[in-house]
Amino acid sequence: MKGLILSGGKGSRLYPLTYTSAKQLVPVANKPVLYRVIEAIRDAGIREIGIVVGVDDNARQVREAVGRGGRWGVDVTFIPQEAPLGLAHAVKISQGFLGEDRFVMFLGDNVIQGGISPLIRQFEHSAWNSQIVLTRVEKPEQYGVAQVAEDGSIVRLIEKPKEPPSDLALVGIYMFDRHVFDAVHAIKPSWRGELEITDAIQWLVDNGYAVHPYVHRGWWIDTGAPIDMLAANDKVLEELGHEIKGFVDKESKVSDNVTVEMGAEIINSVVRGPAIIGEGTRIVNSYVGPFTSIYHHCLVEDSEIEHCIVLEHSRIVDIPVRVADSLIGRQVELSRSPYKPKAYKLTLGDHSKVGIL
Ligand code: G1P
Repeated sequence: MKGLILSGGKGSRLYPLTYTSAKQLVPVANKPVLYRVIEAIRDAGIREIGIVVGVDDNARQVREAVGRGGRWGVDVTFIPQEAPLGLAHAVKISQGFLGEDRFVMFLGDNVIQGGISPLIRQFEHSAWNSQIVLTRVEKPEQYGVAQVAEDGSIVRLIEKPKEPPSDLALVGIYMFDRHVFDAVHAIKPSWRGELEITDAIQWLVDNGYAVHPYVHRGWWIDTGAPIDMLAANDKVLEELGHEIKGFVDKESKVSDNVTVEMGAEIINSVVRGPAIIGEGTRIVNSYVGPFTSIYHHCLVEDSEIEHCIVLEHSRIVDIPVRVADSLIGRQVELSRSPYKPKAYKLTLGDHSKVGIL
């Protein structure tokens, strides 16, 4: 069996972070979402993984970050997609890589609660032509939606329906055999100009192929927007173990659901988990509250921070009010200015958002 990860897209809802970085490389609990997807596929025993990327700078970053996959013990092949023409189009251009093998396709910006690997292994040895993963959601109109009959078979699949027939959304994980290539060649672009994977699966159903729906009961988050990134961070942090590889001084209090990575230092501070403090990061005279991930080589000094994701090389120093519910990019400086006037002095990128109470 092979793996196919879709890792294109501009990530416009995560601007300004994604002006300079691919959305799949934004870390959740200090690990890029894309790495979590690679690990999930590897854990299912798959060694050959294709990653569909665009032809922009984001693609270059993804190629550089992942390399040939040796770090995970897998072989990675990059498949360039000239334009974002849909998930089924991505399957179409990957036919050369996939050949006759059964495969699992993952969207590279989805985070799902563990335990998906047995499902992939089960498909490998099954007689099904496809397996799709569904989950109950509050706003089905934002997803591909499945109508499932009493006997568990699929009646209909619709992409972003105005009047959803159920609350069962298609999670970004799909399993196929080679018949999917007949489907992606047969379907036509949708109203949004994309070849929809949802239409390809409907084609399989209509043509008598066995498509098995599996309903996932754990959590699943599509990390499209900052609020989703924070939500995914909350969930993953809750499942993270406790590990202190860095240094915690005697004056500090670190609760037992905190990970302190190699070379990190906690000095005269309180860190209340679940939280993770990245490599080489220093927390000095500060409070780090629950659901916070601070990435590598940051400094938090004389400040309080809670329910945040902070990316590498950022500094939060001497801030009089607690920083909360925030997504802070790379090399950001948040500090007090000694110069008058007493005012907010901001240098913000395009699409930045500041909330002041
Ligand atoms: C895509 C699929 C949709 C699925 C969703 C999951 O939507 O087309 O069926 O429910 O991913 O994240 P898109 O992200 O392209 O809007």
